[in-house]
Amino acid sequence: MNARRGDGQTALVTGASFGIGVDLAECFARDGYNLILAARSADALNEVAARLAKAHKVAAQAIPIDLGAIGGGAALAAEIEARGLTVDVLVNNAGFGIAGAFAGSDGSEQLGMLDLNTRALVELTHIYWPGMLAKGRGGVLNVASTAAFQPGPLMATYYASKAFVLSFSEALWEEARGAGVLVSCLCPGPTVSKFRERAGTGKTRLSRVGKAMSSASVARMGYQAWRANKCVKVTGLRNAFTAALVQMLPRETVLRLVRRIQSPA
Ligand SMILES: NC(=O)c1ccc[n+]([C@@H]2O[C@H](COP(=O)([O-])OP(=O)(O)OC[C@H]3O[C@@H](n4cnc5c(N)ncnc54)[C@H](OP(=O)(O)O)[C@@H]3O)[C@@H](O)[C@H]2O)c1
Repeated sequence: MNARRGDGQTALVTGASFGIGVDLAECFARDGYNLILAARSADALNEVAARLAKAHKVAAQAIPIDLGAIGGGAALAAEIEARGLTVDVLVNNAGFGIAGAFAGSDGSEQLGMLDLNTRALVELTHIYWPGMLAKGRGGVLNVASTAAFQPGPLMATYYASKAFVLSFSEALWEEARGAGVLVSCLCPGPTVSKFRERAGTGKTRLSRVGKAMSSASVARMGYQAWRANKCVKVTGLRNAFTAALVQMLPRETVLRLVRRIQSPA
C-alpha cells in the first residue's frame, strides 16, 4: 500500500462536531492523519472520532471544550499535552455568525463571537506555529468566509471577524515562505450546515439566491488548497467571481449591495 501523506502526523480540527469541520477532519483522516477533534458537543464529537478512526484506520481523539471561553485555546493545548499528543496541523474551523443590525444586538454575544472566530484562532496558532516552523512541516488551515472580502452591514461583526482571519492567514502564509509549513485560508460561500440556523440568516435575500454548496465539497476544496499551499481558496466559481468583483467596485456601492442581500427577503 502507498504511504499516505499524513502518516505519523496529527491534525487538530476545531468545530469538528458538525458541518464543514467534520468533512475537513475526514479529508485529513483519508490521507492518513491522526485526528484530535474539538468542539462543545461531546456526543457528536465522540461519534465523529469513532466513525473516522474506523473508516480510515487512524487514531482519533475527541476533546469537548468551549473555545469561545477566554483561555479556551490554552486549555485545549494543555489537555492535548496531558494526553501525550502532539499537533502537526492546525485546522481553525470553529466559528459562528450573528445576523441583524448592530444596534439592539446582544453585546456579550457579539464579543463571544469574536472570542471564538478570532481570539481562539490566534491563541491556538500562537501555541503551535513555532513548533511547525522548527520542524519545517505541518501547517495551518484557517476557515474564513467570502464575508472576509467586504464589510457586512446587518452582520457587521461576523464579516469583520472573517476579514481578520483572512488578513492574519495571508500574513502567516508569507511569514512561512520557504519554511516547509503550509498555510491556507478557506473562504466558503453559503454552505449546507448548522451555520444558518445559529446565525439567524435564514430569512435574508442572500439565503434565497443560489444553492448552498455541500460541506463535503467545500472541505475537499479546502484540503486540496491547503496541500497545494494556496494562500486563499474561495469555493466555487460564482463565489470566486463575486469576491474578485467587490475589490473593483466603489466601497459605497458594495456596502449598499451587501446591506440589500443581508436584508429580509
Ligand atoms: N455554512 C456556511 O454557509 C459558511 C460560510 C462561510 C464560512 N463558514 C465558516 O465555516 C466554519 C464552520 O461552520 P459550519 O458552516 O460548519 O457551521 P456549523 O455546522 O454550525 O459548525 C460549527 C462548528 O463550530 C463549533 N463551535 C461553535 N461554537 C463553539 C465553541 N464555543 N467552542 C468550540 N466549538 C464551537 C460547533 O460545535 P459545537 O456547537 O458542538 O461547539 C460546530 O462543530 C465557521 O468558521 C463558519 O464561520 C460557514
